[in-house]
Amino acid sequence: MEPVKVGLLGLGTVGGGTFNVLRRNAAEISRRAGRDIRVVHAAARQYDPAALEGIDQVQVTDDAFEVVNNPEVDIVVELIGGYSPARELVLQAIENGKHVVTANKALIALHGNEIFAAAQEKGVTVAFEAAVAGGIPIIKAVREGLAANHIEWIAGIINGTGNFILTEMRDKGRDFAEVLAEAQALGYAEADPTFDVEGIDAAHKLTILASLAFGIPLQFDACYTEGISKIEPQDVAYAEELGYRIKHLGITRKTGRGVELRVHPTLIPERRLIANVDGVMNAVLVQGDAVGPTLYYGAGAGSLPTASAVVADIIDVTRTLTTDPGNRVPHLAFQPDELSDLPVLEMAQVVTAYYLRLTVEDRPGVLAKLTGILGDAGISIEAIKQQEPGEGETQVPLVMLTHTVEEGRMNDAIAAIEALDVVTAPVMRIRVEQLQ
Ligand code: HSE
Repeated sequence: MEPVKVGLLGLGTVGGGTFNVLRRNAAEISRRAGRDIRVVHAAARQYDPAALEGIDQVQVTDDAFEVVNNPEVDIVVELIGGYSPARELVLQAIENGKHVVTANKALIALHGNEIFAAAQEKGVTVAFEAAVAGGIPIIKAVREGLAANHIEWIAGIINGTGNFILTEMRDKGRDFAEVLAEAQALGYAEADPTFDVEGIDAAHKLTILASLAFGIPLQFDACYTEGISKIEPQDVAYAEELGYRIKHLGITRKTGRGVELRVHPTLIPERRLIANVDGVMNAVLVQGDAVGPTLYYGAGAGSLPTASAVVADIIDVTRTLTTDPGNRVPHLAFQPDELSDLPVLEMAQVVTAYYLRLTVEDRPGVLAKLTGILGDAGISIEAIKQQEPGEGETQVPLVMLTHTVEEGRMNDAIAAIEALDVVTAPVMRIRVEQLQ
């Protein structure tokens, strides 16, 4: 049988890894796919030929549209990243009747609804396993392996750079900027690293997971996003004292009122397996009504782990080339005409517990004022810890854990607390999840 012909857009970290994996595992891949898979055309502005054995047998151009418009190409693999020209290239490939494989989470989270509608119209597949948690086959798991379940919630460490920074801060007390620079040098960080530390990259991935889990359209703009740049070493230490770890989590949960879609630093009990996922590793915890909790762990970034997911998609697409488009696995796990209009909740409507760190004057009556405000708001305190004042200090840190409360109510209570003259700095608030 004729080989399947691939057009590869990008020969950088992921594109180069994909080229190398396709080549080094060619025989096994062919046995799995039922056909040889061959890169026939690639696009890259610059690349290192010495790192890509066999690239001299491939036509390489600096114009990605040449690849997309090459009639010989069956599958376009988009590994350029970013919104544009990735969107135009993918839409043009679909228009030309080609299947697409992409690792581009930003593209899918923002333009996936449009792209999937176009693909559906043309009867082609757009595969995007590498867009979420790199090498972990989480899309396959949620879309196919857990298809029997009513999925209740998903919580994931889905940005390796952020997890690496939090881990190094906790274990070695290292400086935020220094750790970020190391993640960039290792090729984990996004081109714009604020995407990592401010949670935008995780929000892209969570948006995709929520749609797959609950059968809702992709709604990146509705995702609440808070980064880790305000976390202080003292919060990491207080969390440990209370039996928790701080992780930057993406959480999506289906409730009776709508879907929670939120990325933020979170205290989780240190005895949970996911609390022990360190460094650049990713992990996704999925709670299904039939299966219970399942946890998926692995490398969420990097050349070969991401290539692993990209090549698996190329094999999947190859296997479905001759199948009826109506019988393929739907892009968003649910049939396109069966997507739900369940709303995404505002953050003020989300119910969660809190860690609060206050800086207060160390004098009589302060605690009574604070607990009075929380009590009036119906917020129940689970634990409270006053730290020793430093030598000659008149202000002390006060750390509290609360029971669950609607966020809007907590916002009002925090505003009232910050208005007190005995409270001398903004309240540090971190959400707490038990993940049970
Ligand atoms: N910047 C991302 C991370 C790369 O650090 O996880 C993979 O999406």
